[in-house]
Order: sequence, then C-alpha cells, then structure tokens
Amino acid sequence: MIQLLHVSKTYPPSSPALIDITLSIEDGHFVFLTGPSGAGKTTLLKLLFREEEPSEGQILIDHQNVTRLRSRGVARLRRRIGLVFQEFRLLPRLTVMENVALAAQVVGVSRREAQIKAVRILRELGLEKPQAKPLMLSAGEQQRVAIARALINEPRLILADEPTGNLDPGLAEEIMRIFLKLREAGTTLIVASHNLDLIKRYGSRILSLRQGRLVDDLERVTEAHAL
Ligand SMILES: Nc1ncnc2c1ncn2[C@@H]1O[C@H](COP(=O)(O)OP(=O)(O)OP(=O)(O)O)[C@@H](O)[C@H]1O
Ligand SMILES: [Mg+2]
Repeated sequence: MIQLLHVSKTYPPSSPALIDITLSIEDGHFVFLTGPSGAGKTTLLKLLFREEEPSEGQILIDHQNVTRLRSRGVARLRRRIGLVFQEFRLLPRLTVMENVALAAQVVGVSRREAQIKAVRILRELGLEKPQAKPLMLSAGEQQRVAIARALINEPRLILADEPTGNLDPGLAEEIMRIFLKLREAGTTLIVASHNLDLIKRYGSRILSLRQGRLVDDLERVTEAHAL
C-alpha cells in the first residue's frame, strides 16, 4: 500500500510542484495520474522512487516511511519498483536481451541467469528478437523492451511516466493490455498520462492534479473491467 500524508514539494528556490497531497493506493490497483502540463505528475512519481524528497509530509510504501531512507534503503526501495518512461532509455550498443538482463545483473543476479530471465520476459511480451539492437525495433517494440526491463526483478509496483506518449493509438492499447495483465497478477500500477481516451477506458482510478493540487479522485468500473 502507498500512502501520502500532507505531501508538498517545492523545488528550489520557490517553485511549488505539489501542495498538501494526501491519498492512499491499495495493492493491485491500476491508477492513472492526469492533469495539465506542469501539474506535478512526474514530481509525484519521482517522490515515490525517491528521485526527489518531499519538502513536507510523509510517504509510506508498505508501511515503510520512504522519506527517511538512507542511500542503502533507497537502493532497496528502487529494487521493488519497476520504472517505465516515455523515452525508452535503452542502451543502443547492447542487444535487447542485454538491456533487459542488465537490470537484473545490477541487483546481483548472475549474467547467465539474468539473460535466461530476460529472454523469457521478452517472449511473454511478444518480442522474439532478443539479439536485435534497440534501434532496429519499432517504437512500440522498444517500449515493450523497456517494460521487460522494468519487470525483470518482479516488482510489486510499476511507475510509468507517459509510457504511451511516443506511440500510435494501436501500440498504446497494446501497452495498456500488458499493464492490465500485470494488474491481474497483483501488481500495483501508477501511470501518468495525458491520454484521456486511454484513461477513460483503462483507468480504474483517476487522480487529477492541477497546479500541484489533487483536484479529483475518481474510482469507477471501466469497460475494460466490465469485460
Ligand atoms: N527539477 C526541477 N526544478 C525546478 N522546478 C521543477 C523541476 N521539475 C519540475 N519542476 C516544476 O514543478 C512543476 C511540476 O512539474 P512536473 O514535471 O511534475 O509536471 P508534470 O505534470 O509531469 O508535467 P508534464 O505533463 O509536462 O510532464 C512545474 O511547474 C515544473 O516547472
Ligand atoms: Mg511529466
């Protein structure tokens, strides 16, 4: 479970990005974070994986206060979180498999084991070209590689920042279906997005930010759930 208690974030010298946010997110929920540019969506995600620290308030993840972690605790926290960004951030010189495997190797999994896992996850996501270099793939395929990389350490929480921003509508749908499957397997997903069409169809809970404030928190049954 994720809890934010009166969280504010002001970037130096005095730019308020989030103002007094209190909310909680249960395990296994699929939450969209929306709102206009500059509303604070990316900042909220960054606070959750401790890229940034709140100026005020507390953030609890599984009852652990992540605002008070030291560097070793931060590393441990990040291991439990899968990150997916709009830009895929793949290493162009490595193969697709190596890109994915690396994320497991950095947390201590052997190279061989990591590569076996990488190939398996890539296959589950419908990618059969583990030896390709990222730039040989389409944007949708590259985003799936980035998702595979986020999944290899089996995180219980996925944070995604505009994960479909560079994709055409069909590919965006594909990414959403992957996310839905993950949620069915019990993963918590928090996805920042401007894409209202997708949000309407897939979001079971929609948090709306505006100028740093939480202005709406909508929970509902969506078409995707009703199916
Ligand atoms: N590193 C930073 N230093 C100073 N101000 C920042 C920094 N990052 C973000 N901000 C400011 O904080 C506010 C919220 O930014 P944030 O990136 O969280 O918005 P966003 O909702 O993700 O926007 P977008 O939809 O454009 O990605 C903005 O006013 C932005 O200018
Ligand atoms: Mg952003």
